[in-house]
Amino acid sequence: MSDVNRRRVFLDEIVLGPVWLRRDGGIALFDGAPEAVDIMPSQALAIDPEMSRPIANDSSAWPDNDNAVATLSPAPHIGIAATSPLSMDWPQLQQAAANCSACGLCHGRKNTVFGVGDSKAKWLFIGEGPGPNEDVQGEPFVGPAGKLLDNMLWAMGLRRGENAYIANIVKCRPTDGSGRDRPPSPEEVAACLPYLQRQIELIRPSVLVALGKTAAVSLLGLDPATPVSNLRGSVHLYSDLPLVVTYHPAYLLRQPADKGKVWADLCLVMSTYAQAGE
Ligand code: URA
Repeated sequence: MSDVNRRRVFLDEIVLGPVWLRRDGGIALFDGAPEAVDIMPSQALAIDPEMSRPIANDSSAWPDNDNAVATLSPAPHIGIAATSPLSMDWPQLQQAAANCSACGLCHGRKNTVFGVGDSKAKWLFIGEGPGPNEDVQGEPFVGPAGKLLDNMLWAMGLRRGENAYIANIVKCRPTDGSGRDRPPSPEEVAACLPYLQRQIELIRPSVLVALGKTAAVSLLGLDPATPVSNLRGSVHLYSDLPLVVTYHPAYLLRQPADKGKVWADLCLVMSTYAQAGE
């Protein structure tokens, strides 16, 4: 299957079609305002019943997160001890994350989930934290939300592991007393964020995409109560890098009617990338 047809299949699958074709046969992903894309409501996704519980807000990956969350300003980049993640190279950082015991999440983890993809990627996607599948496999976004994220990447002409990198705000799975997934606490975010900060410094992506509220408020140092809906539609800055906020794929599995908004956000990501001269 050609790349163009494959992209069309993936666009169809996430029901973001129709695909606009240029006369030269390419997909006009960068042409026109996001509003020009005809968004179809979805009934087609195979949804994990766990992910389809009703939710009260648009915040993050996990349905029961009303009491959540998670934000702290990024840790300062000055006064760093020699052993700080902020001074490490990539292999040291991986090793340190794998052995990390900076917060209580280390006690329940099967694996740390460092990230996946091209360490020189131009596109960096950042989620909240590992869930059960990620904890077992040690890779981010491998469950149902991950399938949707992969489809979103395909729709943008990207692929996990090639020109995109996928990471999370925290690298170990947060669970509550009953073993259910929950958003990370502010303390857990603060303990883990230096790893992600260093990953961003080493990758130097052209554009960051914050998937959901936890990623957005943690990276931008915002009030945890800030709704994703307030952050969408404009280009923020993380350090000097452009950052676009969109809904978390897990939220989208529960609220497929918002897929059109996500496609608009991805169009903003692509135009931001194009404007960065890449
Ligand atoms: N949700 C996230 O935010 N990250 C993952 O890796 C998986 C689900």
